[in-house]
Amino acid sequence: MDAKANTEVVVLTEPALEAAVDLLGVVVLGDPTKDPVFKLADQALGGVLGEVARSEHFEGKAGQTISIHTHGRLPAKRVIVVGGGTRSEFSNPGIRDLAASVAQAANKAGAASVAFLLPNVGANREASLVQLAAEGVVLGTYKFSRYLTGEDHKRPTTLKKFGLVVEAKGKKLPIGRAKALASSITRGCTIALAVNHARDLINEPAAVVTPTALATDAQAIAKKHKGTLSVTILDGKKCADLGMGMFLAVGQGSDQEPRFIHMIYKPAKKAKKKICFIGKGITFDSGGYSLKPSQAMEDMKVDMSGAAAVIASMDAIATLGSEFEVHAVAACCENLVSGRAYKLGDVLKSMDGLTVEINNTDAEGRLTLGDAITYARDKIAPDELFDFATLTGACMVALGPYTAGVMSDHESLIKSWMSAAERTGEDMWRLPLNTRLREQLKSPIADMRNTGDRFGGAITAGLFLKSFAKDTPWVHVDIAGPASLGTARPSQPKGGTGFAVASIVEYATRS
Ligand code: BES
Ligand code: MN
Ligand code: ZN
Repeated sequence: MDAKANTEVVVLTEPALEAAVDLLGVVVLGDPTKDPVFKLADQALGGVLGEVARSEHFEGKAGQTISIHTHGRLPAKRVIVVGGGTRSEFSNPGIRDLAASVAQAANKAGAASVAFLLPNVGANREASLVQLAAEGVVLGTYKFSRYLTGEDHKRPTTLKKFGLVVEAKGKKLPIGRAKALASSITRGCTIALAVNHARDLINEPAAVVTPTALATDAQAIAKKHKGTLSVTILDGKKCADLGMGMFLAVGQGSDQEPRFIHMIYKPAKKAKKKICFIGKGITFDSGGYSLKPSQAMEDMKVDMSGAAAVIASMDAIATLGSEFEVHAVAACCENLVSGRAYKLGDVLKSMDGLTVEINNTDAEGRLTLGDAITYARDKIAPDELFDFATLTGACMVALGPYTAGVMSDHESLIKSWMSAAERTGEDMWRLPLNTRLREQLKSPIADMRNTGDRFGGAITAGLFLKSFAKDTPWVHVDIAGPASLGTARPSQPKGGTGFAVASIVEYATRS
């Protein structure tokens, strides 16, 4: 699974209205009659654009587009105008969808070259806008089509070159500025390729993406970055030696062997701090003996989305470089039913030493994560610890499918995490780790039990994990909703989203 971009994203130094391309894309923020770029293009086209805008009620709203042939009035063969909403509504990450929809329109029209004029949102936002537009192109041309046999799915995309332009009219872009923008593009493409890689891992069936397959994937990424990135894979025996009683219990019902993955990025210079990202890696969650109903089980190949995110992010982090020592950890196994599976009422001994009574085998993620957190504390001793997990349906009930729930007791850490997420446009919202809910986790025969009652389910899961994170600065991100979606947007087809990759890479390389 090697996510490759077949569309090259470049900076175009000529102004947009002079670009001899198959398709010119222009963003209009709000009322087109007040938009200077729209007016310039309309002028060049003899008023046709304005006419079409009027007749098609184009008002520059997000999601609206108009498209026309230029019939030689401009060097570009076609023009597509995409609405981005009003200037005050528009935030930089919004450009991802706009760039993605232009890339998709280009492929639909059989265009090979595109010039995409970015809206003028001020010089200080330009680098980030260019990066996010490049991400949009790579994300928007992602398809998971390897199991589709129809001819139209095999046809290669027509779009070869997607050029980003920052000036509508006037002089060529100076070389210095073009170079700076090119590096933003490289950054954007690197991040989006990692997101697409995570998507592939999530979208592949559980029969393909097994714990061993995830380990092989992590090894391939480490090999690509020999010298800066290394990986250690622990098999079941080694995990048993370390006392990972919770992790091993979850996987013991499956014929697929568990794998504990630990990747390490080391910067050339002395690291400023040590960060560890843990991802939940349940390659299939049947629920175990607390069996899920068929409908709820249908999509449970996605239960390794946290692992996919942290593994794929390491590729981008190693490519872009970080001043930090960065670790990715994923305890990977399958939660199945068999004669060997763990049962309700079992008492497990965690790597930490704490004992846990199982009152629901479907609350397996927190068990695997608990041991992964203890491993991180014992073997890595990070300054900052994060975990990403498709952990609870309750989190989706609280926040809906698009927003991740973020929990932490460390004010400054959660603040800097939320600010990284804000910059990438990934929707995250804090939930309180209300300690009063800990009562729900009391067990009469063990130190705690693994589930509470229905109310506050996302938070009791967070509190369970906190018993293992203890005083380590730690942030828990429940991605059960946004990891995989049944609804699409231009930069994100249905299915695995690669959620959290952008924020992880942003945090590790930019904070
Ligand atoms: N993997 C699920 C959570 C999940 C649900 C992820 C839907 C993505 C979409 C998790 O292991 C689980 O089963 N959680 C239980 C916890 C409960 C038993 C306390 C849940 O949410 O029902
Ligand atoms: Mn479960
Ligand atoms: Zn699960």
